[in-house]
Amino acid sequence: IEKTFVMVKPDGVQRGLIGEIVSRFERKGLKLVGAKLMSVSQQLAEQHYAEHKERPFFGELVQFITSSPVFAMVWEGENAVSVARTMMGKTNPAESAPGTIRGDFGLTIGMNIIHGSDSPESADREIALWFGNEALSYDKAVDVWVG
Ligand code: GTP
Ligand code: MG
Repeated sequence: IEKTFVMVKPDGVQRGLIGEIVSRFERKGLKLVGAKLMSVSQQLAEQHYAEHKERPFFGELVQFITSSPVFAMVWEGENAVSVARTMMGKTNPAESAPGTIRGDFGLTIGMNIIHGSDSPESADREIALWFGNEALSYDKAVDVWVG
């Protein structure tokens, strides 16, 4: 069963969107297996966004993600990675469809509210980076009704 790393970014936390976002993933049928409110060190931010190191906005990105706490989560379920990405909407909230998280709550690419792993390989890397082996595994009775 697939797991994905999802994070409410500082703008989402500051705007009081943690509950809304958690609620959407719960109602979708995904299972929460890890969660924590935390501040992000410079080192963790740089490791997390290592693939963007050469991009012109890298400094801005690291500055933003370390500016205020984030809410880091691990969600589990069939195709969790792509399902979460679909629920988040396109990277640029100006282009994200209404009904998606970025489409409903975001306005600009620099503050797009949420992060989600972009592949199962990224998910493995990011879960290890943010949670080590802290994520839980447990049964829910409703599991049999979500597949
Ligand atoms: P994440 O889930 O946050 O990784 O978003 P993504 O996978 O949809 O986009 P990508 O990994 O390509 O970019 C990572 C993050 O960098 C985005 O979520 C944006 O917050 C930020 N970003 C991407 N492009 C730009 C840009 O042109 N300017 C700025 N300021 N930020 C950008
Ligand atoms: Mg990405």
